[in-house]
Amino acid sequence: MQRIQKEVVIPPQIKPKAPVSDLNLPQRTLQLEGGRVCNALFVLGTQLNVNLFRSAPPGAKSFSVQCSPTVQYKIEPRPSDGSLPTQPLVKMSTLLFTMDTVSKQANESKLSVRYYGEKTEVLATAIVHLTTIGISLDVDADRDGVVEKNNPNKGSWKWGPKGHGAILLVNCDSESVYNKQLDLEREEVTKVSDLKDMSRMILRTSGPDQLPKGYKLVMHINKSDSERIRVFRRQGGTSQSFFNNLLKNFIREFPVVLSHDVLSREVPYKGTGELDFYVEGLRFPDRDFDGLVTVSLSLLEPCSQDFPETPIFTDKVVFRVAPWIMTPNTLKPVEVFVCSVKDNSKFLRSFKDLVARSACKMTVCYEYMNRGDRWMQDEVEFGYIDSPHQRFPVVLDSPRDRELQDFPYNVLLGPDFGYVTREPQDEEVSSLDSFGNLEVSPPVTVNGKSYPLGRIIIGVAFPTTDHGRNMTRVVQDFLWAQKVQEPIALYSDWLIVGHVDEFMTFVPAPDRKGFRLLLASPDAAYKLFRGLQKNGFGKAKQFDGLELAEPILVDDLLSDETFRDENRYVQGCIDWNRDVLKRELGLEEEDIIDLPILFKVSEREMRAAAFYPDMVNMIVLGKNLGIPKPFGPKVNGQCVLEAEMRSLLEPLGLNCIFVDDFATYHLKLGEVHCGSNVRREPFEFKWWNMEH
Ligand SMILES: *[C@@H]1O[C@H](CO)[C@@H](O)[C@H](O)[C@H]1NC(C)=O
Ligand SMILES: *[C@@H]1O[C@H](CO)[C@@H](O)[C@H](O)[C@H]1NC(C)=O
Ligand SMILES: *[C@@H]1O[C@H](CO)[C@@H](O)[C@H](O)[C@H]1NC(C)=O
Repeated sequence: MQRIQKEVVIPPQIKPKAPVSDLNLPQRTLQLEGGRVCNALFVLGTQLNVNLFRSAPPGAKSFSVQCSPTVQYKIEPRPSDGSLPTQPLVKMSTLLFTMDTVSKQANESKLSVRYYGEKTEVLATAIVHLTTIGISLDVDADRDGVVEKNNPNKGSWKWGPKGHGAILLVNCDSESVYNKQLDLEREEVTKVSDLKDMSRMILRTSGPDQLPKGYKLVMHINKSDSERIRVFRRQGGTSQSFFNNLLKNFIREFPVVLSHDVLSREVPYKGTGELDFYVEGLRFPDRDFDGLVTVSLSLLEPCSQDFPETPIFTDKVVFRVAPWIMTPNTLKPVEVFVCSVKDNSKFLRSFKDLVARSACKMTVCYEYMNRGDRWMQDEVEFGYIDSPHQRFPVVLDSPRDRELQDFPYNVLLGPDFGYVTREPQDEEVSSLDSFGNLEVSPPVTVNGKSYPLGRIIIGVAFPTTDHGRNMTRVVQDFLWAQKVQEPIALYSDWLIVGHVDEFMTFVPAPDRKGFRLLLASPDAAYKLFRGLQKNGFGKAKQFDGLELAEPILVDDLLSDETFRDENRYVQGCIDWNRDVLKRELGLEEEDIIDLPILFKVSEREMRAAAFYPDMVNMIVLGKNLGIPKPFGPKVNGQCVLEAEMRSLLEPLGLNCIFVDDFATYHLKLGEVHCGSNVRREPFEFKWWNMEH
C-alpha cells in the first residue's frame, strides 16, 4: 500500500470538481484495454462511462485513476474512503468522467487507469488520450426569431406560451413572378429572399481545427421526413459575402444537404465556428403527417479499416410545420376580390363604393381570367402561415375547378403569397367542395376550452344518410390536420347549392363575445310578414317594382300552405345547425341574430334555395356590411326587410349597405358573399401559443 501511494501521486486538482452524476448528462460507454493507449473524442455536455471490471486484466484486485486537471471523474460504487489512492476492484466498478472545456489541440487531456494484483503489483495500465470538442445543432426553439445556443428543449416540441420547439414554413410561395413555380418544387435556392421563407439552423462547433483522423460529422433525417423537408447549407460559413456575388454563384453558395434522395450527408467540421443551414418545409400537416420533423447530427467514430463508423454522439432538433390558418369576418379586411363578367358592371360599381368606404384594396378578376365564372368565394379560401421569422398569406385552392380554376395559381401565387391545394384522386368533387362551404368562426371559448383562432366550419351530408353530398375527404383531412382551428361539420346538403354561407355568417360586435352569429330564419320572416298583414299592409308586394321577378302580395305569400311547409322544413334544417353551433362554439341565444329570410324548396331535388336575395350571404368589411338587396314589401316607401336588418344590426355599430345582386347573382343561386372574397389581416395571436 505504502509503496503504491508513493508511486501514484495524485495532484489535488484531479479531485472531481462536481459530482459527475449530479449532472444528468447523456452517457457513452468507452472501451479501455489494459496495456493499450487509445484515443477518444469527447463531446462537451456528455459523460463517458468505463466498465473497469470488464477492462481489467485477470487477477486485478484494485485500481487507481490518474488524469489531467481538465478531467472530472467519479468512481462507482462510491468508495468508502474516496481519499485513498487505490480502490478495490469490484464487479460493478465503474468510472464516470466528463470535461467542461474544449481542447485547443488533439490529445490535450489524458486519463489512465492502473490495475494492481493481489500484492498491489501493477498488472496493466490503460491510457486514453482525450480530445474534447463542442457540437451543437441549433434552432430557434424559444420562438423569438433568433437561433439561440444549445437550447435544452430543442429536441422536442411543446404547445403553449410556456412551450418550446422550432417552427418551419411550407415554402409554398413563388419568388419568381414571371416563371412561376412553387419554391418548394425547386431543389435549389435561387434568391436571397427565398431564405426568409426557410428556418435557419446553425451548427456550432468548437475544438481543435480538425477532428482526429477518421471522425466525421453527419447530418441526417429519416425517410418519411425526407418528403417533408429539405436542408440547404450556406457555403463559407456565416460571412456576409453572399450578398456580393448574388446571382453568379448563388446556387453553388447554397447546396442541398438533405432531400428526398439524400437522407444523410457528411458536413464539414472547421474547428471553432458556425455553419449556416436553411430548412425548407415541403408539406403541410395532413392525414399522414402530424407536422413534426426531426433533423439529427451525429459524430461518427472510425473503428478500423473495413468497418463502418459508429455514431458516438447525436444531437437533434425538432420542428413543427406551421399550419394553414383561416381568418374570420372579425379580422380587418386587407383586399377584396370580385369578378368582372359580361353582365355585372352595375353591381361592380356599387360594390366598389362599398369597398372604398371600408378603406381596403379592391382587386377585380377580369373575364380573360375568370372566363365567365363569377363565384370568387367558391374557388379560393384565403389564409396564412406564420412563424417567428416570417409570415405570408396562403391561398387554399378548391378542387371545384370551374372557369376560375387558374386564378389562384396564375394571379395570386407570387413572392410572399403562397398556394396550396388538395385534389381528390378517386372521389367525385361536388358543389360542397366550393369554399362558400368553408368558413371560420371568430375566437371562442367552449366549456373552458379556448379556440383563440376560432373554429373552421364546413357543410356536409347529414350523418344519417349514406348517399348525400359531402366535402371531399382530402380537403376535410387537410382542414382537420391543421389542428389549430378544429373544424365543425354542419349539415348543408339540404340546400341546392349546399354551402354554409347560404344560412350563416358572423359579424363583429362591440360587446359579449365580440361577434354575433347571424342565421337565416324563415320563422323570423313569417313573423315579419304576419306583422305587416296585421297592420294592414297585406297588399304590399315582395319583389315590388322588379322586372325579373313576379311581385307577390304579402297576403298571398302567407296563405300559400306549401310554401309555409317548405319553410318549416328549412327552419328545421337551420335549427339543427343552430344547435350544433351553439354547442360547438359555446354560444347563448343572445349571441345569435335571426335574419328574416325565406327559402323555396325545389320539387325535383327536394333541396332549397333562397326565395328572395339571401341577406345572410353578405360581405363583412369591418363595420360595413354589403348585404344583398332583398326587394321586400314597402311601407311608406321603405323596404321592410331592409328596415328590419337595420334595426337588428345598427345597434351593434354596423352599417347595412344593400347591394343589388338580383339579376347577376341571386337568379344564379348565389349572392354578394358567393361573388366576392376577402383577404384579411392575420391574427395577432400566435398559433404556437395555443394550449393542446
Ligand atoms: C493522438 O493520440 C493518438 C493515439 O492515442 C495518436 O494516434 C494520434 O496521432 C494523436 N494525435 C495527435 C494530433 O497528436
Ligand atoms: C421519422 O421521424 C418523424 C419525426 O421527425 C417521426 O414522426 C416518424 O415516425 C419517423 N419515421 C420513421 C419511419 O421512423
Ligand atoms: C361526410 O363528412 C362527415 C364529416 O367528416 C362524416 O362524418 C360523414 O361520414 C361523411 N358522410 C359521407 C356520406 O361520406
